[in-house]
Amino acid sequence: MSDELQQVVYISSAEHLFSDEEFAEMLATIRAKNERLGVTGMLLYKDGDFIQVIEGKPEVLGPLFDTISRDPRHYSIVELMRKNITERQFSNWSMGFHHINVNDSRLAGFNRFFDDVEHENVDPGEALNLLLVFRE
Ligand SMILES: Cc1cc2nc3c(=O)[nH]c(=O)nc-3n(C[C@H](O)[C@H](O)[C@H](O)COP(=O)(O)O)c2cc1C
Repeated sequence: MSDELQQVVYISSAEHLFSDEEFAEMLATIRAKNERLGVTGMLLYKDGDFIQVIEGKPEVLGPLFDTISRDPRHYSIVELMRKNITERQFSNWSMGFHHINVNDSRLAGFNRFFDDVEHENVDPGEALNLLLVFRE
């Protein structure tokens, strides 16, 4: 195994509206597998869109991102960023999660972020900043 670390950020659309129970069930699976794989990150959900960052060893992230991309629970998956990092930015989270409410004050400055914008046109830096805002 290499010492390298990579970070991948993507945006996608949920295939259907998720209930709290579905999120809880999905997160339990995700967190258990990420702990096993040494993967950390953050998942945000707002108005039917997912935005996620995953961090870990490249040889782990590659296959994991392929698995996630093939998951029928979402579509229109656009990889926004894949870069080498020297340290993790989400080290406290096997997978943090926020179901973001439109009125959340932390969205200030990101107002147009999930709305109207084609996934292809999302700014990768802005996407990462949004994930970082919800890190604490
Ligand atoms: C939006 C979204 C994010 C996901 N994130 C992860 C993740 O971070 N880690 C993970 O192991 N699975 C994640 N999954 C679930 C995977 O797609 C897959 O169901 C899970 O890894 C189990 O795969 P396996 O049965 O092949 O082991 C995610 C699924 C969705 C829809």
